[in-house]
Amino acid sequence: MATIKFYKSEEQVPLEMHKVRVVQKLSLPTVEERVKKINEAGNNTFLLQNRDVYMDMLTDSGVNAMSDNQVAAMFQADDSYAGSETCNRLMKVLKEVFGTDYFLPAHQGRACENILAEAFVKPGDVVPMNFHFTTTKAHITRKGGSVVELITSKGLVPQSDEPFKGNFDIPALEKLIEEVGADHVPFVRIEAGTNLIGGQPLSMENMLQVAAVCKKNGILCVLDASLLQDNLYFIKTREEACKDMSIRDIMRTISENMDLIYFSSRKLGFARGGAIISNNEKLIIKMKEFIPLYEGFLTYGGMEVRSMEAMAVGLLETLDEEVICQGPMFIEHLVKELDAYGVPMILPAGGLGAHINAMEFLKDMPQSQFPAGSLAVALYIAGGIRGMERGTLSEQRDPDGSEHFSEMELVRLACPRRVFTLSQIKYCADRVKWVYDNRHLIGGLKWVEEPSTLRFFFGRLAPIGDWQEKLAAKFREDFGDSL
Ligand code: F0G
Repeated sequence: MATIKFYKSEEQVPLEMHKVRVVQKLSLPTVEERVKKINEAGNNTFLLQNRDVYMDMLTDSGVNAMSDNQVAAMFQADDSYAGSETCNRLMKVLKEVFGTDYFLPAHQGRACENILAEAFVKPGDVVPMNFHFTTTKAHITRKGGSVVELITSKGLVPQSDEPFKGNFDIPALEKLIEEVGADHVPFVRIEAGTNLIGGQPLSMENMLQVAAVCKKNGILCVLDASLLQDNLYFIKTREEACKDMSIRDIMRTISENMDLIYFSSRKLGFARGGAIISNNEKLIIKMKEFIPLYEGFLTYGGMEVRSMEAMAVGLLETLDEEVICQGPMFIEHLVKELDAYGVPMILPAGGLGAHINAMEFLKDMPQSQFPAGSLAVALYIAGGIRGMERGTLSEQRDPDGSEHFSEMELVRLACPRRVFTLSQIKYCADRVKWVYDNRHLIGGLKWVEEPSTLRFFFGRLAPIGDWQEKLAAKFREDFGDSL
């Protein structure tokens, strides 16, 4: 990785190894308008209109900046229904990057999860994973299975210097398989990195250990590689045994040990779409029939062919250390600045975005008033910053209908790759600091409309009391006529 040192060491900041050539104009409504807009959006940042957002830090999904080479590749897309050259080109790249021979296309990550669940999960099955992801869990439970999380206890400690908080508890995995029996475990799912606990990575060693346990028990080992790009960077920079390996070798070593890999290329590969890949033809045959049923023909599976071309180029870029360091470096900068100010951040910085520990930020708020959801609303009011609640609102209710309080209440400030400049990151830090100093003004939220599945996407909430007006008035007092 190119290390470029600044002459004045105190000025060391992450340095972009790219330049911006296409831009999108932004605007920022006034603080009074922001209170209005967030209420029109049911106090759910998913429902805000982008025109009302200054920094869209909702997700890194489908919003990463594409390279000139990706855009160029899109022009050569071959949209023949069958026998498309685009599909052949993508398969060649998948073979080069992961070493896999077989590929099933799907329109995005959750579509791959649907296919996996259809093909492998039966009622009563248990799917162990380091940590669940919202859509993954929804697909498994929909088929009558259940998810067991086997993250080590270190993974849930909000602040530590543990480099691989996404790691599996290997003895717990072995014990679970023994208890439920390998026949009831259709697969073990590795999520690398781990979305809902702050983009935290797994070590390569841990992934290989999981694969070995699976092999010993005759269970499939499945890798959700959606967030693998940042995880590769963390393996390279944090895992002693891998520091002399190339990203390509790390990628190959991991993929050779997996039975199945799937990913959302809205994240991995700076594109849009999804893929299931494997070297095991039998497994592919088991899933194949679902592609034309749910997705599209086997050459595109619901993806737009131009996106497939962008994916192919983007996946090759994922092997470039100078490309993949950008996301984690910007995130680390934001996290360190906020941590130094005293804002409770998830430490160490992970991939995907900076994660604020809302449980600690709003210490006195009961989880039943949704601290992470409330903080996400406060950040929008304070700065037109759209983060994402990753706490109780993002959970599903328990089967008996009671609220399922999440283990962590996080607000995620995603840093889509190559999108924000450092001054925007600084602005974000500034507004978070202001909200932190005024945290005593923040109140809770209550449900107004609650969908029964994946409720966080389009559920609507209302503030408890008039705290939002008070927060806006304090903003005026402190910032005068500033937007
Ligand atoms: N797996 C992981 C680890 C993810 O983070 C996501 C999506 C998916 C699967 C599903 O992929 O969106 O293409 O259907 N994460 C997005 C996010 C939604 O904002 O974190 P998808």
